[in-house]
Amino acid sequence: NWSMTDFIDMQVADIRAKVGDKKVILGLSGGVDSSVTAALLNRAIGDQLTCIFVDHGLLRKNEADQVMEALGKGLGVKIVKVDAADRFLGKLAGVSDPERKRKIIGNEFVEVFNDEARKLKDADFLAQGTLYTDVIESGTDTAQTIKSHHNVGGLPEELGFELIEPLNTLFKDEARELGEKLGIPHELVWRQPFPGPGLGIRVIGEITEEKLEIVRESDAILREEIAKHGLDQEIWQYFTVLPGIRSVGVMGDGRTYDYTIGIRAVTSIDGMTADFAKIDWDVLQAISVRMVNEVAHINRVVYDITSKPPSTIEWE
Ligand code: XMP
Repeated sequence: NWSMTDFIDMQVADIRAKVGDKKVILGLSGGVDSSVTAALLNRAIGDQLTCIFVDHGLLRKNEADQVMEALGKGLGVKIVKVDAADRFLGKLAGVSDPERKRKIIGNEFVEVFNDEARKLKDADFLAQGTLYTDVIESGTDTAQTIKSHHNVGGLPEELGFELIEPLNTLFKDEARELGEKLGIPHELVWRQPFPGPGLGIRVIGEITEEKLEIVRESDAILREEIAKHGLDQEIWQYFTVLPGIRSVGVMGDGRTYDYTIGIRAVTSIDGMTADFAKIDWDVLQAISVRMVNEVAHINRVVYDITSKPPSTIEWE
């Protein structure tokens, strides 16, 4: 629509005026906000922008590739991808407390980003995907005290970059619309929310590669089935969690002793309150059958039927 086109023209002019012939860096998380910011800056200043994509090894199946494909190949955004999975998993080894896990992931993210940013010594600006709602919320003290959120926003002030936050007058839906106008694929832009700490807070307790794999694979099946049944627009967020308990089952004619997978699917407006989604039994059954058949070490699937409050959406 006309106003979004005007917005792009205005922002492009503003960014060019501000940046001149200098360099900008941006931390790409794979999420909507940073992706749209990258696309907008790329439109304005092309390869004066370098994005640093920290892959913490806690992303969903194919997520990193999708981002590289859509932004890197598709739009020609310059992206330095850092495979930091070992670094993150190393730091997380043996840690089971949810808040400690969140802090470690958040801190490590900043460290890895800083290491890379220092290599790009000649950058003067740091771009961030701060939205209007982030601006308002940072002035108040909302639900953030229940769980410490770590996002790409709020990165390294100590490096002395000047900030560029071109989305800070937009709401989420407007940022998505902008992303589509800039050529980011529809599926990427209208994705469900995904937390900064990623699958790290969906493996309950200690994180191991085996458990991550179980969550990643079961989550991929869930997403496929939800999309196949046309539920991806009405369900606000849907994912699997691995509580880490094992129980007895029977497969073929043998006893199994394997993991339980939890499915979490909610309807919500803004994530502050939520209801569990009343998914059809037949759909849930199809999902359950596929998970047990296709993912090693799952022998039981449960559905979370609590609302928020009293539960939260994520289990950690
Ligand atoms: P909870 O679990 O608090 O989640 O009911 C509410 C919404 O916030 C997301 N969430 C996060 N998002 N960084 C984020 O960017 C985080 O650390 C984080 N923790 C939870 C959650 O996925 C849900 O959409």
